[in-house]
Amino acid sequence: MKLGKDIAVAKAHLKKGELVAIPTETVYGLAANGFDAMAVARIYEAKQRPAFNPLILHAASIERVRRLVSVFPPKALLLAEAFWPGPLTLVLPKSELVPELVTAGNSTVAVRVPRHSITLELLQQLDFPLAAPSANPSGYISPTRPEHVLEQLGEQVAYVLDGGPSEVGVESTILKVDGETVTLLRPGGLDIESIEEVVGKITVPTKSKLEAPGMLASHYAPGKQVLLGDTQALSLQYTDALVLAYRQTLRSLPFDRQLVLSPSGNLREAASNLFSHLRQLDAMHGSHIIAELVPNHDLGLAINDRLQRAAAERKN
Ligand code: TXA
Ligand code: MG
Repeated sequence: MKLGKDIAVAKAHLKKGELVAIPTETVYGLAANGFDAMAVARIYEAKQRPAFNPLILHAASIERVRRLVSVFPPKALLLAEAFWPGPLTLVLPKSELVPELVTAGNSTVAVRVPRHSITLELLQQLDFPLAAPSANPSGYISPTRPEHVLEQLGEQVAYVLDGGPSEVGVESTILKVDGETVTLLRPGGLDIESIEEVVGKITVPTKSKLEAPGMLASHYAPGKQVLLGDTQALSLQYTDALVLAYRQTLRSLPFDRQLVLSPSGNLREAASNLFSHLRQLDAMHGSHIIAELVPNHDLGLAINDRLQRAAAERKN
């Protein structure tokens, strides 16, 4: 069986340089030994990920992260203490221990302590960090359940560590900390409001300037084309389409052609449903997926970011 809860099995595969899918509170990761460039190369191969798109290193604690970075600025430490384990990734100057392939040649490395008990236990038992991007083929929706990984990367992984559904459901928020300056590189599962309570105002670039290297305009996209806008109007125009609604289904369309992110309008619930709903709609009969933006605060920023990328025109 490739799916299970056995940490010892996961550990044995990772030690041999093989790939293991790990649960985190955000999404499932496709993990390999972050100190072993050969193992890391397998991640790029399995995901068909462009080699210029660097990976996040996951470790069990702030202490374990220290050896991965050459500088830990005070603001970064404040953030780590406030939010780790949790859905926050920090981009900091890398140490010599980190292979170039992990950072795609950058002088910085992305690091995070994930908040999931089984993965923390595994990381605790390893003497290397885990390099792990989201466990989906490059460009597709991230997996929030172990079955999603098996469906798409079942051949490539040695083992999927089953940690149940991901609690947060969208990827971590990525911040670059350069001395005193904190810059948002990717909105995600930790909201900006909470971050600013700890370190004061941060730099939030306009959308087109967000600079995480892998943030291509089209990303997180299902197979069906996603149309973003007024769901009512769009459903009149695209009569064979399915609908992803924020709070309420359309009366004009059958119930079984629509999914709702959060009937009560709770953005956390909406985030946790986003990717699994998109996957469900992708597997149903219908020509397109029609979706609407959610309120643009708290986790709404990350949800809207993913929806816009899912709807963006594909260049490949
Ligand atoms: O929640 C998450 O962050 C999940 C779980 C598995 O931890 N991981 C994840 O990884 O979303 P991935 O590879 O799908 O996205 C990582 C992002 C990419 O956009 C990448 O470009 C950016 O992090 N990144 C990694 N290293 C970086 C660096 N040194 N500088 C700037 N951006 C970096
Ligand atoms: Mg990803």
